[in-house]
Amino acid sequence: MLRALLLYLSQATWARKIVTGWGVAWRVASRFVAGETLNDAVRVVKELNERGFTTTLDHLGEYTTNDEEARSSAKEAIEILARIEGEGLKSGISIKLTQIGLAIDPGLCKSNLESVMAVAVERGIFLRIDMEDSRFTETTLQLFEEMAERFGPEKVGVVIQSYLYRSEQDAAKLMARGARVRLCKGAYKEPPEVAYPRKPDVDAAFDRLTDILIRGSQDSGSPPVSANGRRPPIPAIASHDDERIDYAVWAADQAGLPKVALEFQMLYGIRRDLQDKLLAEGYPVRIYVPFGGEWYPYFTRRLAERPANLWFFVSNLFKK
Ligand code: FDA
Repeated sequence: MLRALLLYLSQATWARKIVTGWGVAWRVASRFVAGETLNDAVRVVKELNERGFTTTLDHLGEYTTNDEEARSSAKEAIEILARIEGEGLKSGISIKLTQIGLAIDPGLCKSNLESVMAVAVERGIFLRIDMEDSRFTETTLQLFEEMAERFGPEKVGVVIQSYLYRSEQDAAKLMARGARVRLCKGAYKEPPEVAYPRKPDVDAAFDRLTDILIRGSQDSGSPPVSANGRRPPIPAIASHDDERIDYAVWAADQAGLPKVALEFQMLYGIRRDLQDKLLAEGYPVRIYVPFGGEWYPYFTRRLAERPANLWFFVSNLFKK
């Protein structure tokens, strides 16, 4: 119930206006967001790189409603790429297709994506296409396929959400093409017609998908994370769930997949203990580093994932 309400609020314009007007909201959100500017994010990335983590930078923004904003989001992504190269960061970028126009016009989104991809390839930086709600799954996968075909499957990656019924089929197809896949549970409000409503089913599907990705990686020669940390291996397990991570470690070990051919990914500010532990065990660990002024929907989804975050937020409202 609470999760559904928060996920509804994450897309409600009226709620965004109210919450982003409270200074205290930013204070709590900054636990999950690296800062409002690219400079803030670069500072965080440098610190993470020094500690041995790789990163993926995400300039927050989604569901852009006009062409101009969509084009300017693509330009901003290009600026981030220049900064990654200029500063020698061990980082890729993540991008949401509705940020660059998917909800307005798939043609506009494709041309924006192509211009960002061309620069990412030129600068040797990996681009991950985030997955959004199920209205966009099919088009996102199609656009991913087109980019992978045109620029090479090792230059661009996509995301599979274990809560969707379709994901096992999608993952099998992606593995047949050697695609780089980030596996997550899924963060949006979905109807029972398309997604498992019960958490144990989402978790069980996550482990089955982990198996599919591990086998897929082996079939493609188990490519490792690149030496400069910018290109991930084929399977990227994006979760903070101890059981899912333990399963992935066990399954990869059983299959004989080298540690460098399996990446763990976590969100900035969440389960730092686990991030450190996996890194110390010799796995590549990539931190998703979001930044920018459009933090409201991202922040609300993080509240929805863990009720304790909401209580932390509410208790801060009463602090001076
Ligand atoms: P689960 O929600 O079961 O949480 C397991 C444990 O992790 C909790 O008990 C708690 O300890 C900790 N935890 C989880 N979320 C927390 C939070 N918000 N605050 C504090 N602790 C928390 N989704 C999507 O739909 N499309 C996408 O493209 C992506 N991309 C993405 C990238 C990366 C790197 C990550 C880690 C996640 C995503 N996600 C995503 C989000 C994902 O779908 C999912 O909503 C969250 O990761 C939470 O699920 P967990 O697997 O962590 O498990």
